[in-house]
Formats: sequence, structure tokens, C-alpha cells
Amino acid sequence: MATSYQILDGKKIAADIKEEIAEKVRQRKSAGKRIPHLGIILVGDDGASTTYVDGKVRACKAVGFNYSLFRFAESITEERLGRQIEQINADDEIDGFIVQLPLPPHISVDRITDRIRPDKDVDGFTNQNFGSITSKHPLLMPATPFGVVELLRRYQVNLQGKHCVVVGASRLVGAPLSMMLTEHGKATVTICHKYTNDLAAHTRMADILLVGVGKPGLIQADMVKEGAIVVDIGTTRVEDPSKPGGYTLKGDVQFDTVAPKCSLITPVPGGIGPMTIASLLLNTLTATERRD
Ligand code: GUN
Repeated sequence: MATSYQILDGKKIAADIKEEIAEKVRQRKSAGKRIPHLGIILVGDDGASTTYVDGKVRACKAVGFNYSLFRFAESITEERLGRQIEQINADDEIDGFIVQLPLPPHISVDRITDRIRPDKDVDGFTNQNFGSITSKHPLLMPATPFGVVELLRRYQVNLQGKHCVVVGASRLVGAPLSMMLTEHGKATVTICHKYTNDLAAHTRMADILLVGVGKPGLIQADMVKEGAIVVDIGTTRVEDPSKPGGYTLKGDVQFDTVAPKCSLITPVPGGIGPMTIASLLLNTLTATERRD
């Protein structure tokens, strides 16, 4: 049994990245170049989405970006939301923007995503950006998987030839992450999902186990190989009256029992969450620089 493990400290690495971005913003300012400007569309008043958007606004302020927040009632029509997207697509002041998900059920995420201009798609959700993961010249990388790969890179984790097991095949996380690990990391990747037979048999083989399904505590100690690296991408709000906001964030990994078996592991919170925001800022800076 491993006696000590090291934390993959997303909060610290994200702070380093934000400081690097803030310095680039200062340089742009003194060179008379445009300051990056992020647009954020938020529909409805879902508590988790509002908290995430607040975090994105705070991050913009911290690095010196301009931002515009577009808030709409839950009842907004798809047509009206689409028109707002067209307007931002055409707005030269805004370098990149995101539509915070989830959207209400009467609005199609696919159709809305298709309307976002790919060179302003700083979440990396559009087909063009998603597809470019396998290109020699990637465009804007999907933000959450980009954050995962960047965190591992900054801890000098060598992915080449390693067996990465990704649990979750979602379009936002698991699918693009698997492609990045293969294309950029030269890893061997297994993708598991809710139909996978005998999940534990797969996860136990992982040199690096990456989990993003939103099922608190899914991964238990007997599902993890001794010495593995574990990346927990799950963030589920669970009621907790002892906490100031009345809830706590839970990952997909049972941290207390799994961590002692690991060489490296991300915490929740303080792991991939802050890295996702840092990636969004990096993408916004990239989108701005490409317009210089
Ligand atoms: N909802 C949960 N995660 C994300 C994200 O990374 N981007 C957007 N736009 N919405 C989300």
C-alpha cells in the first residue's frame, strides 16, 4: 500500500496560469493592443450555473479581461437566444464567448452550439474546434479536457504509452479528453461509460484513471491500481447544512479511501474546476491574439 500521495493542486496551477495571463494582458495594454473581452450567456437562475458564472466573472476581473454578462429568463425562446448569439458573433468588441450549460429542456444545445462562431468558441464545443483536436493545428481546445491535460503536463506526468482509462464518454469531457490523451499525449486509452460491463475490471488496469460522470463516490479503493494517478473531473452539488451555502461539492472518486493507493490525485474542490476556468481564460487570450 502506498504510504504517501501527492496532490495535483489545480487551484495552485490555475493561479500560476492566471498570473501568466495577467502579465500578458499588462504587456498588451502597454503595447496599445486590445484587452481580451469574454462574453458569457447565462439562461435561467440555476444555482450551480450561477456559481460557475460568478467564478468566471471573478477570473476575468483577476486577469484584467473585459467581460459582458448576458442574462436571460428560463423562458427565453431558442430563436431569441440564437439571435443573441448572432449579435455576439458579429460584435468586434467581444473576442470569445460561452453559453453556460445546461440550457432549459425546450432549447437544443446542439442547434445553439452550431450557431457559435468557431473562432469565438472559447469553450471549444463546436464541431470545428472539437474536430481540430486530431489536427496538426488545433484551434480552440475544449476547456475542461484542456485543463486536465495542462494540469498533468505541469506536473510533468509523461503520458506516452501509459494506459489511461477514461470513465465517461460525454461530448464535453470524456470524448474530447480521450482524443487529447491519444493525440497529444500518445497514451493508450480505454473509454468506459454507463453501458460498460465490469467497470472495475477496466479501472483497475489504469496507470492514469480519469473520471467525469457526475456520480459522487463512484470510484472506490478496490477499483484503483496501487500507485495509479487519479484525476477526478466530477463536481456534483450535494446538500450539506453544515456548509455556508447549504451544499458541498463532491467528486466521482471516494477521496479518503482512494488517495492512499495513489501516487498523484486531484482533490474536489480545488482540482479540475479551477483548471477549467484557467483554460477558458487561455482560450480567450488565444482568440484575441489570433485577431491581432
Ligand atoms: N456547464 C458545466 N460545465 C460547463 C463548461 O465548461 N462550459 C459551459 N458553457 N457550461 C458548463
